[in-house]
Amino acid sequence: MNILLIGAGGREHALAWKLTQSKLCDQLFVTQGSDAIECEPKTSCVDLDVTNHHAVIQFCKEHEVEFVVIGPETPLIEGLTDPLEAKNIAVFGPSKKAAQLEGSKAFMKNLCKKYDIPTAAYECFTEISPAHDFIDKLGAPIVIKADGLAAGKGVIVAETIEQAKKAVSDMLSGEAFGNAGASVVIEEFLDGEEVSFFAISDGNIVLPLSSAQDHKRVFDGDKGPNTGGMGAYSPARQGLWTPELEQNVMECIVKPTSEAMQAEGTPFKGIYYAGLMIVKGQPYLIEYNVRFGDPECQPLMMRLKSDLGMILYDAAIGDLSQWKERGAIQWRDEHAMCVVMATEGYPGAYKKDTLIEGLDDIEQTDSSKIFHAGTHKMDGKWLSHGGRVLAVTSVGKTLELSKLETYGMISRIHWADGFYRKDIGWRALKTGKS
Ligand code: AMP
Ligand code: GLY
Repeated sequence: MNILLIGAGGREHALAWKLTQSKLCDQLFVTQGSDAIECEPKTSCVDLDVTNHHAVIQFCKEHEVEFVVIGPETPLIEGLTDPLEAKNIAVFGPSKKAAQLEGSKAFMKNLCKKYDIPTAAYECFTEISPAHDFIDKLGAPIVIKADGLAAGKGVIVAETIEQAKKAVSDMLSGEAFGNAGASVVIEEFLDGEEVSFFAISDGNIVLPLSSAQDHKRVFDGDKGPNTGGMGAYSPARQGLWTPELEQNVMECIVKPTSEAMQAEGTPFKGIYYAGLMIVKGQPYLIEYNVRFGDPECQPLMMRLKSDLGMILYDAAIGDLSQWKERGAIQWRDEHAMCVVMATEGYPGAYKKDTLIEGLDDIEQTDSSKIFHAGTHKMDGKWLSHGGRVLAVTSVGKTLELSKLETYGMISRIHWADGFYRKDIGWRALKTGKS
């Protein structure tokens, strides 16, 4: 069948790479896609305005697209799934209502409270004065979150009460994030280790995929401001992430969420990306995202042995039953690491159109691949095109070997205006249990 993938980043490059290997895929269209994505076999990039749902439907009809995979959160939260499904086009991704799990932190927190899903203690506020009183009551450190989508910047981990009160005032006044901050969630600070856990649901059946760990801070040693993610590896650190913990997360967090979404009349179909904090061996839900993580998707796709297109399509049509048996979704029993190369200045202002050399000389295989997050090609040369630009990924028998291969590829990329973290995987490698 013809498949349309929505998105343009490193995550979508990895999804495109894997989808074109699917026996379901005759042709893959990607919008907006990128020059690098278009280098994948069977792939054409098209220029569609995804906020114009009618235009997307029209494209699908004209190009006999039977299946749409939505990569990023924004089109999901803006409700692209529903009108496509109304025209009998299968869509991988939740409905507009179900995407609220990521689109509204208050929605997600209230669901947790109602259905007893472990998460940090919290309250929601729209007025400054009661919010400040709650901060005084809870004390610092404390976490302040804008309710709506704020391009990954809507979370402030405040070290002091003063910082917390200022963050609340900035958000509620509309100064910080406009409408996304018109309501805030204030929550208890959880002191633990973060894991990204991925599960897939067809609206009813929910199955575990795998785990990963991201590196959100921009500089080595987890210093500097938060970013979209500077590198990730999968699976998560073995001393931390055990089969028992995964089962606990499925039984106490993901399955109850799936049942809750059904009970609320908003069944969830798509990816549950549970952002977890593990505190003394116990998992707490920090947030849900309703799509694959970026860059977590890249190592995940490299480890996935099964046919991605089939799994996503079966989820989209509401029938994951053939994947229910333990081990039906197969993974390489290896470790994958992705290191993000970003433009100097990111996550602040950065230059565009800087020259990157060496990319075409690096051999790409099933076990090592450079996914492009923000490049374009001009006159045969690769130029940067964003903050996070390349997601260099490899898989190896151990995390150590994957790290050697990934950084080996990076050493052959010549990019004067780029930078990357040198310590991706430090937690897992420190313990030596990779
Ligand atoms: P989010 O955008 O919700 O993923 O939050 C961004 C980051 O803030 C997370 O990756 C955590 O590192 C941190 N964070 C969010 N909520 C909490 C919390 N309750 N306790 C500690 N850290 C948190
Ligand atoms: N890596 C973090 C995210 O995708 O939200």
